[in-house]
Amino acid sequence: MFTTIDSVSAKTFIFPGVTPLLRIKEPELMIELEQVKVYSRTDFSDSDGKMVSRLSEFIKESKKNLQRKSIFIDLGCGPGNITERLAAHWPESTVVGIDGSLEMLKLAKERQVLVKKISSLKGLSYIKQDISTLSVGQFSLPNLADVVVSNSFIHHVHDFNDFLKALKAISKEGTLFFHRDLRRPLTFDIALELQQKYLPKAHPIMIRDFLSSLKAAYTAEEVVDYLEKSNWKSYKVIEVGDRYLDIIGIN
Ligand SMILES: C[S@@+](CC[C@H](N)C(=O)[O-])C[C@H]1O[C@@H](n2cnc3c(N)ncnc32)[C@H](O)[C@@H]1O
Repeated sequence: MFTTIDSVSAKTFIFPGVTPLLRIKEPELMIELEQVKVYSRTDFSDSDGKMVSRLSEFIKESKKNLQRKSIFIDLGCGPGNITERLAAHWPESTVVGIDGSLEMLKLAKERQVLVKKISSLKGLSYIKQDISTLSVGQFSLPNLADVVVSNSFIHHVHDFNDFLKALKAISKEGTLFFHRDLRRPLTFDIALELQQKYLPKAHPIMIRDFLSSLKAAYTAEEVVDYLEKSNWKSYKVIEVGDRYLDIIGIN
């Protein structure tokens, strides 16, 4: 069904006198102990739930016949908040979370033990790998994915092409992909407004990281440009609400 290249739903208009926010990278891996603790304690359940519902709709819309025992890969899974939701939603599937941060994965595994008390999550596992090892073929998975997802991950990756190479390396023909991330606002003032709106009373480290993430995020135009240049054929890039970007499609 995804045979055409969709342009973005809204273009960034440049207004006279407005200096657009340029992309400022942040460290790829989240390994500071305090940062990891604060992140994993923040309640993302509302946005996480919406992300998985949208993924579920997308899978239905794609008309792909997912086998009961499909393989889901969650790139940049962090503390496993999305990964465990995938395992609960598709309980017969194999769900693998990949992250390069040992600190994040320690928390993901601790949560797995806690969550297992209320739900079996039998197909869930985690792998510690930097996605660059997938991009360059240093590491490969025993089985290719039926569905690749990521949430709030892509803005960490310094070069979007590395993300695309990793995605290709773990995909086969017909693999569905669904990536949701922040998108970079036009100005830093808008970034501050978003922080006030969504994280008004968060821990100072979370506020710092949220602002850094907004500055590090890609715009929809940049994503479309990368995808076009790498001859990606079947995808959509969609601006969602005032802060997200969905990149969805089929390999
Ligand atoms: C903001 S967290 C998102 C965590 C989770 N996906 C969520 O929805 O909350 C980004 C995660 O991506 C990981 N990450 C960033 N760059 C990476 C890379 N090159 N390889 C593997 N993991 C990476 C970080 O360590 C961090 O755990």
